[in-house]
Amino acid sequence: MKALILSGGKGTRLRPLTYSGAKQLVPVANKPILWYGIEGIVAAGITDIGIIISPETGEEVKSLTGNGDRFGAKITYILQEQPAGLAHAVKIARPFLGDAPFIMYLGDNLIQRPLNPFLEKFKAEQLDALILLRPVSNPSAFGVAKVDEKGKVLELVEKPKDPPSNLALVGIYFFSPQIHEAIDNIQPSARGELEITDAIQRLIDWETSVESCTLEGWWLDTGKKDDLLEANRIILDTQLVAQNHAEVDDKSQIIGRVQIGAGTKVINSSIRGPVIIGENCYLENCFIGPYSSIADHVKLIEADLEHSVVLHSAQIIGIHQRLVDSVIGRRAQLTVAPRRPKALRFMIGDDSQIELP
Ligand code: TTP
Repeated sequence: MKALILSGGKGTRLRPLTYSGAKQLVPVANKPILWYGIEGIVAAGITDIGIIISPETGEEVKSLTGNGDRFGAKITYILQEQPAGLAHAVKIARPFLGDAPFIMYLGDNLIQRPLNPFLEKFKAEQLDALILLRPVSNPSAFGVAKVDEKGKVLELVEKPKDPPSNLALVGIYFFSPQIHEAIDNIQPSARGELEITDAIQRLIDWETSVESCTLEGWWLDTGKKDDLLEANRIILDTQLVAQNHAEVDDKSQIIGRVQIGAGTKVINSSIRGPVIIGENCYLENCFIGPYSSIADHVKLIEADLEHSVVLHSAQIIGIHQRLVDSVIGRRAQLTVAPRRPKALRFMIGDDSQIELP
């Protein structure tokens, strides 16, 4: 059994962060989203992992994630020149996959539950495809499945106007090598992509065994800002371990579950967990409220924030209003103009979003 993680794509919905970096490397609780997927796959006993990368962000994914040693896995990187669809990614991964059955995992998906029960069902029943489904309130935004009462998949439709059910496809699939033949038999869709739903539909039409399981627990597709903040909230809530390697002065208060990395200084600040703060940060006269993740080398002076994610080397200085539900990109600077504190001066990247009171 092998694994194929898709970490290419364009990430348009997470711009501007994805102009300069891979969406799968955006951190959730200070760890790249992609790594949660790798860890889940390794925990299910699969260690031969291929990762699809794009020409734009592939080098960054590779250099940060490495050859797999840190996860106890062997990672092979596979370059996809164009984001030509999920089935296209499988097609170009064929030399890596060979004739092995495999799990396909979209690199921006996070799930709460372990993969083992699905893997066991897939193996025990010798299925050609096992898909994971989740009831949603807005099925038109997803690939949607129609299933019989036993979970056998009858039909799949991509982003239907008139959905046949409320069961959305989660970005995790198990395939036998039959999928390659199905992919060889599909054409690009109206949006110009080779769709994995079309390939699975082929398997259904050929009456091979295509089954589904309902995914319990939370599932987050971190491709958008609010989903990213929600993923951050849930991971901080459920997985954060309190640990303090920082220098904290006696005027500061640390309450609840807070993790702070080495080399960080906290001066006259109040931090209310769950909060994670990385290494070599500097915080002075700040309030950091629940559900905030602050990456390494961040400088915060007279800052007040909660339920927000601040990325590597960003600076927030002298903003006397509370920042909430915010994602601050790498090296971004939020400061007050020294001579005209009431005036607003911006240098904002393309596709940025700013809401003023
Ligand atoms: P999507 O989120 O569907 O696509 P995207 O990354 O282009 O994002 P957006 O819609 O915001 O532009 O992709 C799901 C995952 O699969 C994501 O991790 C990127 C990856 N992917 C590839 O690796 N190759 C591809 O050809 C496509 C379409 C996606």
